[in-house]
Amino acid sequence: MINAFAVSNYRSLKNVVSPLSGLNVVTGPNGCGKSNLYKSLRLLADTAKGNLIASIAQEGGLDYTFWAGPEKLTNSMRDGAAPIEGTAKKSNTRLRLGFVGKEFGYAISLGMPAPQGFAGHRDPSMFQFDPEIKRECIWAGDVCRPSSCLIDRVGPVVKVRSGRKWEVYNAHLNSYESILNEISDPVAVPEVHAVRQTIRHWRFYDQFRTDPQSIIRTPQIGTRTPVLDHDGHSLVAALRTIHEIGDREALYGAIEDAFPGSTINFEADASNRFVLQFLQEGLLRPLNQSELSDGTLRYLLLVAALLTQGRLPCWY
Ligand SMILES: Nc1ncnc2c1ncn2[C@@H]1O[C@H](COP(=O)(O)OP(=O)(O)OP(=O)(O)O)[C@@H](O)[C@H]1O
Ligand SMILES: [Mg+2]
Repeated sequence: MINAFAVSNYRSLKNVVSPLSGLNVVTGPNGCGKSNLYKSLRLLADTAKGNLIASIAQEGGLDYTFWAGPEKLTNSMRDGAAPIEGTAKKSNTRLRLGFVGKEFGYAISLGMPAPQGFAGHRDPSMFQFDPEIKRECIWAGDVCRPSSCLIDRVGPVVKVRSGRKWEVYNAHLNSYESILNEISDPVAVPEVHAVRQTIRHWRFYDQFRTDPQSIIRTPQIGTRTPVLDHDGHSLVAALRTIHEIGDREALYGAIEDAFPGSTINFEADASNRFVLQFLQEGLLRPLNQSELSDGTLRYLLLVAALLTQGRLPCWY
């Protein structure tokens, strides 16, 4: 369970703090920032996988993830009476991401490195546009304050609280490494381990393809699938896993809810590729996954995603 999520200076999101409950639905008009919220969550998840800097680079670099508008938007600019102009101050801008989980909270801030001035360096780095991790904190409870902070990383220095004192755990952390990847001792620093494990369990399902060529519509080798893949290609194996070891009642209940009188069955072909059989009232033969409508397939994917997740957070 994630109790809150916060993001600052990510594209159109200047400062968003969002309390979360068991199920959260984000709606709003076109261009209001729904996908930006989702993408920022994804960046946070990438931190625990060691992919944060690479993911930001994929988005075009940290500069591109900052607000592309002027620093100050006057009322007349807003009304269209004056042209949009001004400077986009980026020098000290920080991308900040954070969340509050059941026991611990975590926050990270990133910024651009100071310009290194090629002239003075004999061997200047070619990675001068890689963002730097400026600060990371892990705290106990809902709010990060000096008294609740357990781990504080400022630049290369990581300090860990030990009773009333702070101890330097590492003074030379690379600017591109997160504490979530670099500190792996679950006994000495259990908080880092706990936060890393929490984030690693997040799943993102926004890549379900239901077009005729989609891999989801083809028979797949079936192995036990306790967690549906992010692109849903193991759908039939995941549904079968729920049938065998998961919440079978919820599975068939969800199908009956959406398609009264319908149910599913499973078949394996000679090479153990699983084929779904969707038995629908009024039809003489079951339909397989290649024949289902886009909506039906999507619904089954969401059911499989939710029922294979248990109570772990997932985003669609
Ligand atoms: N670097 C940036 N600076 C400022 N605005 C940006 C930046 N990058 C993207 N945007 C804008 O952020 C806004 C929100 O985009 P987002 O993709 O989150 O919209 P959305 O709510 O998902 O819309 P839709 O319903 O169309 O999918 C858009 O108007 C987009 O142009
Ligand atoms: Mg969108």
